[in-house]
Amino acid sequence: MNLTTRPTVFSGAQPTGQLTLGNYLGAMRTWVQMQEQYDCLFCVVDLHALTVRQEPEQLRNNIYELTALYLACGIDPERSVLFLQSHVAAHAELAWLLATFTQMGELERMTQFKDKSQQHKHNINAGLFTYPILMAADILLYQTHKVPVGEDQKQHLELARDIAIRFNGLYGPTFQVPEPLIGTDGVARVKDLQNPTKKMSKSAESDLAKVMLLDEPAVVVKKFKKAVTDTLGVIRYEESEQPGVANLLNIWCAATGQSRVEALAHFDHNQYGKLKLETAEAVNALLSPIQSRFQAFNADREMLRRVLARGAEQARQRADQVMARVVEQLGLPGRS
Ligand code: TYM
Repeated sequence: MNLTTRPTVFSGAQPTGQLTLGNYLGAMRTWVQMQEQYDCLFCVVDLHALTVRQEPEQLRNNIYELTALYLACGIDPERSVLFLQSHVAAHAELAWLLATFTQMGELERMTQFKDKSQQHKHNINAGLFTYPILMAADILLYQTHKVPVGEDQKQHLELARDIAIRFNGLYGPTFQVPEPLIGTDGVARVKDLQNPTKKMSKSAESDLAKVMLLDEPAVVVKKFKKAVTDTLGVIRYEESEQPGVANLLNIWCAATGQSRVEALAHFDHNQYGKLKLETAEAVNALLSPIQSRFQAFNADREMLRRVLARGAEQARQRADQVMARVVEQLGLPGRS
């Protein structure tokens, strides 16, 4: 059912404020590389963002900023389909159909639901609970082969696979069963700089915990200088004993393209101060071209609207074909 012979990639991020270095290293950087070999769709998942209360003006702004950031990071709308989830109604429609193939117990086991309902005790809405079904719909709607994500999304991907397998088992081959693509080189879960056993998250309370893609160089240096390490005073790669040092080494490697062995040789007999400063410098070198491109893209809202409108049209054409097949398999009369 693919329009091209290249395998399909789908991924997305929520427009809930700026992206972190974790989002970039764990996901977006891989997306950009995958454009070379795959047929890619990259989505701004605004419907998912609504599971947490949003201020409308702010949300609209975040959506355009995230679109500009996708472009600034290197997503090329001439090669990939870049679009907004709410522009393609089939996402919500398929989510409804897939909900009837998903068990309550499966959703109750989702760690993100447990975490988010702790964080938002006053608003544990049904959308927060069914969030992974919408995510499965996003992926299955395009017959996706590979989904590049950080480790925190692994459980959701497993559910999407289970739903596809279940549906195919009951109604015959309909959905491509997607494979997660999770980085293995330490960036699948970039850690919080203040609490390096936790993932770096947009929603961390302390600004010092997270490096944002649009942070100014001096701010990046300050955040890394204040990063929590330990009192052992040696630079080794011991994730369980020295999670802060391991995280800095991982980030330095990801930003410079060097291996762990090279990193340990480079920092051998050095102090934590040098590791922190050089990591900050490497991150600034990585972010600086993204930041300058972002300013130009973000200033041109008309262009961003055009890119999203064209992406939605391309996505809709593909989604419609898959929906027609799903509806037929289920026994719902077709529309044409
Ligand atoms: P979101 O918006 O929370 O994050 C976007 C991507 O960034 C990855 N990520 C990280 N990777 C490494 N280290 C970290 N500290 C880190 N923090 C975030 C996430 O794993 C993700 O890949 N539910 C998804 C959005 C989504 C989606 C989809 C993704 C909706 N539908 C379909 C793929 C396919 C989310 O909330 O991502």
